[in-house]
Amino acid sequence: MPTASFHFPRGFLWGTAGAAHQVEGNNNNNNWSDWEKQPGRMLGGATAGLACDWWNGRWREDLDRAAEIGTNAHRMSVEWSRIQPTPDRWDEFAIDRYREILRGMSQRGITPMVTLHHFTEPYWITEQGGWENDQVVPAFEKFVRKTVEALKEYCSLWCTINEPNVYATMGYVTGEFPPGKHSITSALLVVKNMVRAHAAAYTAIHTIQNTARVGPAPQYRGLLPRRSWLPPEVWVANLQSNLFNNMFTQPLLTGKMPWPARYRIPEARGTFDFIGINYYTIEQVTLNLARPNDLFSTRGWREGVELSPTGFIANEPEGLFQAIQWGRQFNVPIIITENGVEDPEDSFRRKYLLQHIHQVWRAVNFTWPVKGYFHWSLTDNFEWERAWSQRFGLWEVFPDTQVRRKRPSASMYAEIIKENGISTDIVSRYAPDLVPLLFP
Ligand code: BGC
Repeated sequence: MPTASFHFPRGFLWGTAGAAHQVEGNNNNNNWSDWEKQPGRMLGGATAGLACDWWNGRWREDLDRAAEIGTNAHRMSVEWSRIQPTPDRWDEFAIDRYREILRGMSQRGITPMVTLHHFTEPYWITEQGGWENDQVVPAFEKFVRKTVEALKEYCSLWCTINEPNVYATMGYVTGEFPPGKHSITSALLVVKNMVRAHAAAYTAIHTIQNTARVGPAPQYRGLLPRRSWLPPEVWVANLQSNLFNNMFTQPLLTGKMPWPARYRIPEARGTFDFIGINYYTIEQVTLNLARPNDLFSTRGWREGVELSPTGFIANEPEGLFQAIQWGRQFNVPIIITENGVEDPEDSFRRKYLLQHIHQVWRAVNFTWPVKGYFHWSLTDNFEWERAWSQRFGLWEVFPDTQVRRKRPSASMYAEIIKENGISTDIVSRYAPDLVPLLFP
């Protein structure tokens, strides 16, 4: 059999990603801990509880795992409600713990990327109207200043806000995330305040740390018409894509939100040193006049595409290539800040991972500036309203005992990192079916 290797540039960031509320445990002062107490909000009434027990120190063993597979980067988030439990108080103990974790990363040769907002905010922010209230912007900026000042010794790669588009959609349109609203007007207002908060954070971080590289991490999701020959279906699909993929990001290029929001946010223009992209899947949009609340459409998967075990993600690797192509308009380095799949048995993940990394390589091969890939996630963690029903980890976690078990994908990722690329040898051992597809 002929052999080949698809190599990545030297210094490429091979990482994993996680978020505070999903791994720390005992977070009881934010919008999600409140949400988890409300009947009917969480699958099976679950609460994050100990999550992955990072706050009690289990971050050490998990970072050992990240180092064991050779990753050179990890994306984590800080919990605003720990650092600023009430509007007038900073918790220096919590800040010290974050310093310790970041120091732990550098001791293991792992470059940290810190996300400043990953779906959670202090409950006192919720009580003040959350992201619909303009006052959240100066509040977030204040928190960012304090945090960056305190952590700048250990981190210079900052993600301002994780998936503002998912936060606004799930929290304010579908109602699956807190605060559980169903209002497009509110969602647009939230996005506006997130753009303003991002811009304020960008400027603040640069005044504190001149080596900082700051960017957002929106999710990019392909939203394609089922029938490309049917103009109203194409129109609806494009509208949905524009709302989801461009509402937050376009003002960073033009200083204003696209139709139908049209808010002007001139200070947002150019506020990014890199663009983070979280990519999971593509959805297909079908015109459905009976569903005005869903913009006259239903969403589904493309015919014949393979689905993840809980049917949450369709394996659409070319969508990652398209996402990167979309990211090129920003003209700055691109980092894949999340990509992964839920798969408890690890029968699907190896294939998904290889095919997606292959698409990243294709982009790199066109000399598009992709600088890193962060796999979601290092270990299984608390998957929001879906709790532990979805397992995204390279390591399995048994939440009751906090025991971890390495999945084969972790070993495969280690080999990819060591090779700094994917080879026929790796593919033929971990996902032999893919050999003819990736190495025709
Ligand atoms: C979020 C993560 C989440 C992952 C898988 C992303 O939308 O940023 O927090 O765990 O998807 O559901």
